[in-house]
Amino acid sequence: MVTALIFATPVSLRASADTGVAADTEAWLRYAPLDAKTAKSYAQLPEKTVVLGDSVVLKAAQQELIHGVEQMLGQTLTPRNQTPFGNAFVLGTLTELHSLPLSHSLYPSRELEADGYWLTTARILNSECLVITAVNDRGVLYGVFALLSKIARGESIAAINEVQNPYASIRWVNQWDNPDGRIERGYGGRSIFFDEGKVRDDLTRASQYARLLASIGINGCTINNVNAAPSVLEDSFIAQVRRIADAFRPWGVQLSLSVDLSSPKVITGAGNAHVETAVSAVQPARSAAAPLDTFDPLDPRVAEWWRKKADEIYRQIPDFGGFVVKADSEGRSGPSAYGRTHADAANVIARALKPHGGVVFYRAFVYNHHLDWHDLKNDRAKAAYDNFHPLDGAFDDNAIVQIKNGSIDFQVREPVSPLFAGLRRTNEAIELQITQEYTGQQKHLCFLVPMWKEVLDFDMRVDGSSTPVKDLVSGRVFHRPVGGFVGVANVGLDANWLGSPMAMANLYGFGRLAWNPNLSAETIIDEWTRLAFGSDPLVVRTVTKLQLDSWPAYESYTGPLGAGTLTNITGNHYDPGPESSEENGWGQWHRADHDGIGMDRTIATGTGYIGQYPPAVQKLYESLANCPDNLLLFFHHVPYTYVLHSGKTVVQHVYDSHYEGAKRAAEFVTRWKTLEGHIDDERYRDILSRFEFQAGEAVKWRDTICNWIYRLSSIPDKKGRVGGPPTA
Ligand code: GCU
Repeated sequence: MVTALIFATPVSLRASADTGVAADTEAWLRYAPLDAKTAKSYAQLPEKTVVLGDSVVLKAAQQELIHGVEQMLGQTLTPRNQTPFGNAFVLGTLTELHSLPLSHSLYPSRELEADGYWLTTARILNSECLVITAVNDRGVLYGVFALLSKIARGESIAAINEVQNPYASIRWVNQWDNPDGRIERGYGGRSIFFDEGKVRDDLTRASQYARLLASIGINGCTINNVNAAPSVLEDSFIAQVRRIADAFRPWGVQLSLSVDLSSPKVITGAGNAHVETAVSAVQPARSAAAPLDTFDPLDPRVAEWWRKKADEIYRQIPDFGGFVVKADSEGRSGPSAYGRTHADAANVIARALKPHGGVVFYRAFVYNHHLDWHDLKNDRAKAAYDNFHPLDGAFDDNAIVQIKNGSIDFQVREPVSPLFAGLRRTNEAIELQITQEYTGQQKHLCFLVPMWKEVLDFDMRVDGSSTPVKDLVSGRVFHRPVGGFVGVANVGLDANWLGSPMAMANLYGFGRLAWNPNLSAETIIDEWTRLAFGSDPLVVRTVTKLQLDSWPAYESYTGPLGAGTLTNITGNHYDPGPESSEENGWGQWHRADHDGIGMDRTIATGTGYIGQYPPAVQKLYESLANCPDNLLLFFHHVPYTYVLHSGKTVVQHVYDSHYEGAKRAAEFVTRWKTLEGHIDDERYRDILSRFEFQAGEAVKWRDTICNWIYRLSSIPDKKGRVGGPPTA
């Protein structure tokens, strides 16, 4: 097993920790020097570190601790290996700890689970120690990051005794990187992994990324696009991917690959015609398994192909995580080619991974994008449930159905997918989108944690009991062996990773929620702000409030009343383009015409989509009287004069909300300006120019949507801003 140590080199030196570029790259791991008073409160910290064990993860943990303490407190910890330790930070698993001659028993107050950690003080070998322990090495690493985060935020760690366990075992990110270096729906530069069909020579950014992920408890990363180039499974490519896994390993991040189901048939020889141009630079090498004339998941030769392929990968990457599969969706090949089910397809891969402990994530994002839009009963929102609910119980126990949070596609407002409640005997993971494909593409500030909280806390009332989505996906409700959280991140080579320093709060927030979905959005953004910008009260107050206000503002000038994002959905998914939703097969319809707007998804008269929910949720959405305003147009077709719970008509709401939203976006500029001189100039100016741009874009959105609604409804704005003078 090759364990080449590629540690991330923190870019900021102590003296430069406050400069913008370094702060951008370090994101929330800046470890900026503490002010003298705060630093003094940590004066009693040990001056040495002891590591019990020599794994690469423990070494990374120790190096991180030394680096963090040095940066923040200017104190150099001395690594010690022999006894007596003297007062020390002691890092190691509970088993290692218990092998020391302890004078008393040392057990946490509640049971530690895999990846959880315990921070405590203890007397070991006659010395006062600060112990960071766990059941596995990764837990120790997470404990170090947690301790450093507390110091960075000035939190007291005197007499600390804290046990933390993760909510679920799956806490993964997906990257939609193509081997040519482009990233699908990536807004932060080119791939940190690939370039011109090959794995990059310099993987410094890959290890820095793994370090960032580890610091928020993320334990897996799928490195390539769900629209997978089959060539990623070529042996020559896997040999390269192994270097990325080596870069991830010290940080406890497991690598996985998205794979194309037709791989057995196309990855070498004649089948290469299927390989996208983007990846044709990858020269096919001789594969361990010969190309087949089929990829039928029930064909024993196909099963054998996947088995050999998995064996080969694990030979090179022993801690490989598994595969992600997008099949029969948006033009991808799938089991339907052979009349097989999604469970057949998932299981053939799951069985190949099983002996190695790997998992397959099978995406529920399966729908027909050639739907007949004339048929008012057709409904793309029904697709995931229709495809997967009948297969409940048919998936192997190392297969996980990966379900997007909503039933359409990462829109600014959607109801949660009914499929979360529709699988009782199948593992689930929720897929959230960190990259802001439909929410402003990092050009607009849109802090998504409050939206994700709403989704995760949404009570599905399965069997009439409290069953919030977070408990369904983590496997708690139906006692599933595995489950959890997946975030589509799409960081790139830009110094600030996502294209905007403020957008990094979404990556941070995803990790924190995956660790503990019960954290509040306020807590998460307070932590992030202090770590990324420091603890100046004005900065903390202003940045946290801006972040928390950003999703409601974005929603109000782009997507009113649950009509979805009225963006250009056949084009860039960014500009306003309400007409692009209609009269095509993509199924993102809002059904706006001269008489009314909204999709009738009721059981009584509509597409029947509401019937996919448990009865209590059906009740909430089916009747106009109960349906919340913010999802009204998702579920009901109503006239423009329909009066909302708020007392306004639909059309007036659209006008008011767009004007209000654009005004709020303009205020973001003035609010941000109060921070001049309180944060580094570079980030101050960068973020200011983004807010100025956003304010202009919000006006563009406002005017496009208001004029469109006016054209359709012929009802002028009461306040005279759209379509004529004020009316009484
Ligand atoms: C969206 C997105 C695509 C992506 C797809 C998916 O449709 O626009 O780029 O491939 O989701 O999640 O598979």
